[in-house]
Amino acid sequence: MDSTPPYPSLLAPLTLAGHRLKNRVVHASMTTRFGIDRHVTDKLVQYHVNRARGGAAILITEPLSMARHQNIDYKVRAWNDDDLDGLKRWAAAVREHDSHLLGQIQDSGRGRHAAGRNPDAIGASPLPDDISWTMPHVLSIGEIEQMIADFASSSARIQRCGFSGVEISAGHGHLFHQFMSPRSNSRTDQYGGNWANRTRFVTEMIAAIRAACGAQFIIGIKLPGDDGAPGSIGPREAAIVARHITAARNVDYVCFAHGAHARSLELHVPDGYGPRAPYVPLMRELRAAVNGVPVVALGRITDPAEADAIVARGDAELIAMGRTLVADPAWAAKAAQNRAHDIRYCVSCNACWDTTSTNHMPIRCDNNPRVGLKDEVDWWPAPAKVRKRVVVVGTGVAGMEAAWVAAARGHAVTVFGCSSEIGGKTRLRALLPGGEALSSVYDYQHAAAQRSGARFELGITANAADIIALKPDAVVLACGAQMTRPLWLPPDLSETGIVPDLRDAMAGMLDITARQSGTAVVFDMDHTDGTYAAAEFLRARFDRVVLITPRDGIAQDVAMVTRQGILRRLHEQRIEMVLHAEPCALEGLEDGKLSYANIYTGDRTEITDVAFFAYSTPRAPRVELVEPLRAAGLALHVVGDCRVARGVMAATAEGHAAGNAL
Ligand SMILES: Cc1cc2nc3c(=O)[nH]c(=O)nc-3n(C[C@H](O)[C@H](O)[C@H](O)COP(=O)(O)O)c2cc1C
Repeated sequence: MDSTPPYPSLLAPLTLAGHRLKNRVVHASMTTRFGIDRHVTDKLVQYHVNRARGGAAILITEPLSMARHQNIDYKVRAWNDDDLDGLKRWAAAVREHDSHLLGQIQDSGRGRHAAGRNPDAIGASPLPDDISWTMPHVLSIGEIEQMIADFASSSARIQRCGFSGVEISAGHGHLFHQFMSPRSNSRTDQYGGNWANRTRFVTEMIAAIRAACGAQFIIGIKLPGDDGAPGSIGPREAAIVARHITAARNVDYVCFAHGAHARSLELHVPDGYGPRAPYVPLMRELRAAVNGVPVVALGRITDPAEADAIVARGDAELIAMGRTLVADPAWAAKAAQNRAHDIRYCVSCNACWDTTSTNHMPIRCDNNPRVGLKDEVDWWPAPAKVRKRVVVVGTGVAGMEAAWVAAARGHAVTVFGCSSEIGGKTRLRALLPGGEALSSVYDYQHAAAQRSGARFELGITANAADIIALKPDAVVLACGAQMTRPLWLPPDLSETGIVPDLRDAMAGMLDITARQSGTAVVFDMDHTDGTYAAAEFLRARFDRVVLITPRDGIAQDVAMVTRQGILRRLHEQRIEMVLHAEPCALEGLEDGKLSYANIYTGDRTEITDVAFFAYSTPRAPRVELVEPLRAAGLALHVVGDCRVARGVMAATAEGHAAGNAL
């Protein structure tokens, strides 16, 4: 047996500000929304303890309220003594696992996601936020000094409570970044103008925290890398900023974050459309500007071998991961045990961002149905008291999740799948642009199900009699959902299959790589990511792609960070978007003629060379088996799209719950 320890660079200890770190794994700051009433909650502690127990050496909290003007409900208040017990409990619980808790200092400044005027927004100058156009209250010198004093005294408070340090979030387009950027700071006093002045807010804050907390307190900083906003901070300016901030060597690490609170917000959470670890090359360049301060790599690092190589090459001393450790808190422990194959990988879908930032809900994950639960770390199902015969119908991610969990609990599980391959519609999505990482969701489920003895009957469309014949004690129905015929499509034309639904059409197109002549048209009443992945796939084959939607925008049912990327790519690829319209006059379709009408005026436009036409519409659950199985007296669990059509997160969560309930 090979006795070489796995990932030796990633798992090597390091000393930072006098603290011994057990390895190089850092949990990047993630807003969980587990705090309530400005207090530490059991769930917030549990979430971090899980990641400490799972092997991370440093855990950076989400932003704490560290200055007296900060009073957001879900952010833990650390600027007074309201919750000293909570802060102590939190730090001690993490320390118990030989990990260190760092509190994040952050302020959104003028940055707001929602349009509308906001009385609490603050900023460097009277310049509007790029997304919401919020005009901030301009901070006076006295207010800046007060904030610095607050950040320092709050740092000392959390140090007394057992925190090992702080991280200043000076990237992502937040307040400190806004002070640095010429796009948001036009001040003429000592906090504006030249780079020494632009970085002064932060350098004064660092000095004040150091004076208050001493040398044995980790002060880390997230700085802008390439923020992607015009006239703001690109790689050249990032190097200047880094040089100024690290000149006094008063910080213990530097981490470069990308994007700004602008049309480039998507850059801070790189998704599956780009490469893995996309920012390592730029970080390598910026490393020359940090005056020898340790560097923390960040951005879509998901795999231990990848992380190990970054440290081994000397590109960075530490590896920060946000979404990766949400998906699997035991990532580091599994790496150390040479069990990378057991990791539930982050698929970079940004559903976690959507839950917290769009829906204002506690954090959740497509590939981890147990975020923040007590038994989350390296979870494996507990054996069932009674062994049952279970039939699962459907091999999409809902059915597969139910199947592996039920099989691992010791049930005798038979899985029917109408396709010869598992994964359902998630597999189709994985084969379209930007989807590749999604395959790890069903790959994990499949391996776990097989290891646990589940029996697969693939390529079989099971009917009620097939299922009843197996005399199951319980049936999990995960048959998915089918796009519905749009009202403008006559039923007789729908039956001819000339106008298919987009998913069926794409399944039939996957093998086609050659260029096709003519125009591909997609009617979009879906507004989720899969429709636009299909449009990109079509654009690589057809001369022209046109999306027609009745809505007043595109991709409206996805998170802002996902939408930005979708819109950028649609525009870059010259995919045409027709808003406020629906197809009409389909009689010429066989000759390639399609008209669409403006939904308000009825004004018509004709496309004359249509070579592909499909609709992407709301999906109706496939429930044909429900009644016959119920009539046969079988215990039914209907999960995922088969219950109500939604996304991967709902599917894995409901499959998981069903597997556990059997
Ligand atoms: C749901 C979510 C919440 C986040 N919250 C914060 C935050 O509160 N503070 C912060 O500095 N970064 C935050 N980030 C950014 C992460 O710290 C990290 O920079 C980013 O996710 C890229 O790293 P990753 O690819 O490892 O996820 C958040 C990211 C996500 C997806």
